[in-house]
Amino acid sequence: MRRLVILSVWVLFPWLFVCSQTPVYKDAGQPVEKRVNDLLSRMNLREKVLQLNQYTFGENDNPNNIGKEVENLPAEIGSLIYLSIDPQLRNEIQRKAMEESRLGIPILFATDVIHGLRTVYPISLAQACSFNPDLVTRACRMAAKESVLSGINWTFSPMIDVARDPRWGRISECYGEDPYLNAVFGVASVKGYQGEKLSDPYSIAACLKHYVGYGVSEGGRDYRYTDISPQALWETYLPPYEAGVKAGVATVMSSFNDISGIPATSNHYLLTEVLKDKWGHDGFVVSDWNAIEQLIYQGVAKDRKEAAYKAFQAGLEMDMRDNVYGEYLEELVSEEKIQMAQIDEAVSRILRVKFRLGLFDKPYVEELPEKERYLQKEDITLASDLAEESMVLLKNENSVLPLSSSIKRIALIGPMVKDSSNLLGAWAFRGRAEDVETIYEGMQKEFGDKVQLDYAQGCALDGEDESGFFTALETAKASDVVVVCLGEAKQWSGENASRSTIALPSIQEKLLLYLKQANKPIVLVLSNGRPLELMRLESQVEAIIEMWQPGVAGGTPLAGILSGRVNPSGKLSVTFPLSTGQIPIYYNMRQSARPFGAMGDYQDIPTEPLYPFGHGLSYTTFVYSDAKLSSSKIKKDQKLIAEVTVTNAGKVEGKETVLWFVSDPVCSISRPMKELKYFEKQSLKVGESKVYRFEIDPMRDLSYTDATGKRFVEAGEFVVWVGNQKLTFEVVD
Ligand code: NOJ
Repeated sequence: MRRLVILSVWVLFPWLFVCSQTPVYKDAGQPVEKRVNDLLSRMNLREKVLQLNQYTFGENDNPNNIGKEVENLPAEIGSLIYLSIDPQLRNEIQRKAMEESRLGIPILFATDVIHGLRTVYPISLAQACSFNPDLVTRACRMAAKESVLSGINWTFSPMIDVARDPRWGRISECYGEDPYLNAVFGVASVKGYQGEKLSDPYSIAACLKHYVGYGVSEGGRDYRYTDISPQALWETYLPPYEAGVKAGVATVMSSFNDISGIPATSNHYLLTEVLKDKWGHDGFVVSDWNAIEQLIYQGVAKDRKEAAYKAFQAGLEMDMRDNVYGEYLEELVSEEKIQMAQIDEAVSRILRVKFRLGLFDKPYVEELPEKERYLQKEDITLASDLAEESMVLLKNENSVLPLSSSIKRIALIGPMVKDSSNLLGAWAFRGRAEDVETIYEGMQKEFGDKVQLDYAQGCALDGEDESGFFTALETAKASDVVVVCLGEAKQWSGENASRSTIALPSIQEKLLLYLKQANKPIVLVLSNGRPLELMRLESQVEAIIEMWQPGVAGGTPLAGILSGRVNPSGKLSVTFPLSTGQIPIYYNMRQSARPFGAMGDYQDIPTEPLYPFGHGLSYTTFVYSDAKLSSSKIKKDQKLIAEVTVTNAGKVEGKETVLWFVSDPVCSISRPMKELKYFEKQSLKVGESKVYRFEIDPMRDLSYTDATGKRFVEAGEFVVWVGNQKLTFEVVD
């Protein structure tokens, strides 16, 4: 009878038997935490330690060796930096992990997808100039899809290091000089990569980097010491990270820098007390490349073993590439310097991310042919939209732009006109020059045969060869207007790409000044990865467009701005100093102790920057009404509404971003002169008016933090700034 019951249950509900045999961690129906704990309870120490390691794969791309490399990888490895984009090869490696390791733990495949993978879109510094976080979310979503289709589940992005020294090459990778902008765009990017859920088919894990303060590297030199007061840490450098953690980022990368004496890599306060205990981050921290071993050079570890110990104790879970965890953690456990419970805690964080990504349930990726993976029509349109909104019209004297329809000949001069590779910017190593639309191609499409385009390169990006100057001048003379395209090579920004001056190489400046002899209006187009020193050029040209490094689709938007088909709407996410000597210079500085007259100013150059943060012109005129506040007095727990109506009083449709700043003129600690707290971008037709509203929440927008991160709102007078208006109100207890 009993047998009969069992048999009929088996026939009717076979899954009951399968389930009872499936380990909990393999059962997709079980909650993540249960699966993590179950798997952890089955792992031995070696298997755990391997989860804490990341190897690189793909340096050797000789097809004859690929199989061998796969063979040499431990099947139990936690993560790989995958330097290929071949999904088939990736699946082959994953199959090894799933089938040849004892427990079948999938590998987490990572790489640097920084501003797009194959469909490269503008560098982050430019993206922030769009003041359009939704576009950035969509671009990151697209990059996530290209990543998954290349076998990648985790990107080392976004970079949200507030950077105020444009000599530092990595300024191109962040969202500018302001903490709020880095927070907003960091969150926008996390949302794009991670989607609604990490387990969605085209979601990847994001990684906030570099935690924290890397942008403060002394003198803008990369990898240098950073001296950051606790006040500055909490006020300027940590807020973007806090926002990203609250938005649910899966991982964080610790930075290379040595923060006021304690390297980020071994900083228990930052990696554990702040990130995990205070903010509740439940993903994991990965080191930067070679950063654990670097603790030796930073003078806080005597050897690799001590470096491993210090990093691990601080709360760093994954060792990128150094293999110091692989070599020493077991020994440190047997010596009882590290407890098994700590190892378990670290491993569980990594497993949690893998489970959330759905890697255990769907370890393999689709294997589509290349042409179905990348550069889809809608992706290029998106890259072009983002490039368009990122470009900033810096100067437009006598409304020389848009170019008049009476123009018959345009001279296109300069090293960037036909350049395809440098428009990609730094960290675009999957981008290909042949995918890039050059300025010249964009102009041809835009102007067709209506206008004659004459090209002369004039000079290279750098060097001393002036032999092309004469032809360039003749070309300029024959034209109605001269568009001079200057800029930077992509390797002049990004990692390990610091420059002592932010001026363009003198050959490029010379070319532009030489072209003045043609006596024609000059439009200067710039493509670069940092703010530039334009002191010697600005007064010589009628108009300047900052096109940044736009990626694959910059030619058409730029040409659209020149023709007037596109009304520029970008605003600067970073100050353009007048000269390198003004650095550091950023809008939210503190007031001088002697703010009268020219006290403390430079004797030899002006103290004001050439273009301030937020600067950006349009082809239309936006008129701001008198701004209003819903009250002149609020309590600390009340909200206040600030409103302004903007009217498009010009002749073309346009997009206007309203920036709302606040300041607290008298406080227990000195406060920045202005702080951006909110912005909104809206499109306005000719004659249309729209209301822009900022809801001020005192704790969020008016508070300051002390040196431990505690927030306070003080009663007293506050100021809201919008356009050129200044409104005051009072906060009472
Ligand atoms: C070093 C860089 O600092 C970091 O940003 C990058 O993600 C890693 N290398 C991996 O390539």
